[in-house]
Amino acid sequence: ETNDTKKMIEAHELLKKFYHHLLINTKEGQEALHYLQTRGISLSAIEQFDIGYSPPAWDVAVKFLKGRGFSLELMEKAGLVIRKEDGNYFDRFRNRIMFPIHNHHGETVAFSGRSIGEGQPKYLNSPETSIFHKGKILYHFHQARLPIRKQQQAVLFEGFADVVSAVQAGVVNAVATMGTALTEEQARILRRNAETVVICYDGDSAGMDAAVRAAELLAQAGCHVKIATIPDGLDPDEYICRNGSESFHRNILESSRSLTAFKLAYLRRGKNLKNENDQIRYIDEALREISRLSSPVERDYYLRQLANEFSLSLAALEQQLERYKKKEH
Ligand code: GTP
Ligand code: MN
Ligand code: MN
Ligand code: MN
Ligand code: MN
Repeated sequence: ETNDTKKMIEAHELLKKFYHHLLINTKEGQEALHYLQTRGISLSAIEQFDIGYSPPAWDVAVKFLKGRGFSLELMEKAGLVIRKEDGNYFDRFRNRIMFPIHNHHGETVAFSGRSIGEGQPKYLNSPETSIFHKGKILYHFHQARLPIRKQQQAVLFEGFADVVSAVQAGVVNAVATMGTALTEEQARILRRNAETVVICYDGDSAGMDAAVRAAELLAQAGCHVKIATIPDGLDPDEYICRNGSESFHRNILESSRSLTAFKLAYLRRGKNLKNENDQIRYIDEALREISRLSSPVERDYYLRQLANEFSLSLAALEQQLERYKKKEH
């Protein structure tokens, strides 16, 4: 570790404690604290995740860091402050709820700041720096690593709030990407620590598309993948707030399905399977999906399911499947 790296991390550690103090103990932080409480985030979760608050002024971090002898040039490289044309500096994060981001050793290397209410952007992240590479870090991995290894299972979310809610609901093996698609690097990290990854993305169509892409990447990395489906377009945090943790475990996590089962369910959406045309379309699309499976056992499993559901002969389905397999190559 170079001296600069050390200084950048030290600044993050100190600022994290300061933001946390402002949230918990000061009048300035009251509105933010209230906001977190209305979202169902407990004080103990605020402690565990070291959540903080950055006030609206332009120079809170600037003064704080300067006062502790940090060079503002280096703090700019750390992404904490921004340099103006006149050579003065101002805070990157203002009037936001601060989620510290830790590297896998548990050192604080970045922040994500959420606006309170509707302000844009909703989340403001630290930029890429020499100590923060977004695509190589999973949020909360430093705390989730042990439970992940023990259970040989990780639960992957899209966002910060989902992880906080999940951990409150007892899902301690929760991690998240931070607003970008899962990277190969992140998939490898998960594979090194767990046999199985349960993908638990938002229930909207963006989340479901992202879930399929993440599942394919994780499968390529050698993970056993399952996908959880959240109804009514809710995200995991919203689901937990409305339905409680027991329901989240039973109806969401324990009901997660294989990628193929998830895709087949996805193909059914918007089709009326009592209608003959829709039925034939579904069977056809499902067969194409099944033809892509490399495992003969899995292919057989889903073919039988299809044959049973629509009272078709397995032979006919197999014949059609062979055609699709040939087309693929
Ligand atoms: P809450 O509204 O606080 O519950 O957040 P969310 O996690 O439900 O947000 P959403 O589903 O819209 O987005 C998922 C993740 O994408 C967030 O947790 C962030 O990491 C990221 N994200 C969302 N909005 C923004 C944004 O405006 N800018 C950036 N850089 N990232 C964002
Ligand atoms: Mn505290
Ligand atoms: Mn979303
Ligand atoms: Mn969401
Ligand atoms: Mn949310």
